[in-house]
Amino acid sequence: MAGMDRLRDHLVREYRKKTAKSRAVFHRAEKVMIEGGSHTIRLWRPYPFFASGAEGPSVRDVDGNTYIDYWQGHYANILGHNPRLIRREIAACLSRGALHTGFEAVHQIELAETLVRKLGGREAKVRFTTSGTLATMYTVMLSQGLTGRDLVLKIGGGWHGASPYLLKGVKYHVGEGFGGCESAGLLEDIVRRTLVTRFNDGDDLQRIIDENGDRIACFIVEPFLGVGGFLPASKEYLELARSLTAKHGILLVFDEIISGFRFCPTGLQTLYGVRPDLTAFGKIIGGGHAVAAVVGSRDIMEACERGRGLSGRVLFEGGTFSAHSEYMKAGLIMLGRLVAGAATIYPKLARSGDRLRRGVERVFAEAGVPVHLTGDGNAVVPGSSLFMVHFPRRKNVSYDHPEDIHDDRRSDVALREEILKLALLVNGVNVVHGGGAVSTAHGDREIDATIAAYGEAARLFKKYL
Ligand SMILES: Cc1ncc(COP(=O)(O)O)c(C=O)c1O
Repeated sequence: MAGMDRLRDHLVREYRKKTAKSRAVFHRAEKVMIEGGSHTIRLWRPYPFFASGAEGPSVRDVDGNTYIDYWQGHYANILGHNPRLIRREIAACLSRGALHTGFEAVHQIELAETLVRKLGGREAKVRFTTSGTLATMYTVMLSQGLTGRDLVLKIGGGWHGASPYLLKGVKYHVGEGFGGCESAGLLEDIVRRTLVTRFNDGDDLQRIIDENGDRIACFIVEPFLGVGGFLPASKEYLELARSLTAKHGILLVFDEIISGFRFCPTGLQTLYGVRPDLTAFGKIIGGGHAVAAVVGSRDIMEACERGRGLSGRVLFEGGTFSAHSEYMKAGLIMLGRLVAGAATIYPKLARSGDRLRRGVERVFAEAGVPVHLTGDGNAVVPGSSLFMVHFPRRKNVSYDHPEDIHDDRRSDVALREEILKLALLVNGVNVVHGGGAVSTAHGDREIDATIAAYGEAARLFKKYL
């Protein structure tokens, strides 16, 4: 049996020993739920642990195990799980019967004002929805509705949720790159109308816009690529994107669903000094609840308003739980804390991220296992709480583009996604894509325990592979 298979068998045995109850729950779940759950990324093999509670840096499972968690609610929980200040306030509101859906309430205005003010207080309007997927979908509808154009340009490796408009070019396929489409059931027309360009590659962007500029409604890009590899855009790239899109009448959309409030108390666009036409926020802005938002200049957002008549209007509405008062309150508390504490919170997050990345590099180097960490900032992003671990298959693999991270010929993807995941779980750490997001609840103690767990994983890799 090959070393990788023997290591997998060893880890699965160890994992099963500590998660017997989760295994039983999973068998029950499989009978009624697709693959045993509601989100593929939470359903790792051989089966996920089932959570019974979470607090600060940690999550507990039904077997009584505790894991230091870097998934942190899909990176939404920048203050850790269930921060006391949000929990206390929501509990008080619940007991007063002050939380409701189905009516407009004041908290949403305050949250919208915070978003707009933090983006420089320019003339902008906000509409809330309940998921990042919907927010990015509406940015595309707004762009197409406003420009009357039929093409959408996105990044290869860019994940913007499962919106039908943006499901192309997400996963890397050997021989095909990021050109493929990730789902059945999409209209062929939509698939043809989505163009894919290479992240941080100004020449490719220029070429595609030169060829199709007058047909492209919007270019959507994350200033700090998330699932694509925790890679920051270069300032020159975003500036080029701004000038090319402006020149060709294309709307520039920033997906700040991960990057918003992750690096500074607003969108990353303020650090880059590049102003998009539309921004999608999500995750952190909900304080652990289902909140996403589209923020755009007044003239663009007004395309959703009723005065435009049926045919000229973008139907950005629906949403039973949109701007639910509980979610809005939680979001306000979260952003209030981040804004008020920015001077200490963001440097602390950056320090913790750095300590973790450098520590993980060190323990793999000590074990003699080649590794590369992404998640560092750049000249514009001064520090970062994100980290992703990669195992280069040869010397001098560069990690500048999503293909470096997702092409199995360059990096051992199974080692990161499957084996490292289990090796860390059996040592009490939960990661996704080999890493995740540090929160303010992760102190030096948790970071050092995490580095030690990576060290255990590194020694196992050395022994078996
Ligand atoms: C950059 C980015 N955009 C959009 C989304 C979709 O957000 P949601 O899962 O809330 O629909 C995600 C989710 O992970 C994301 O990372």
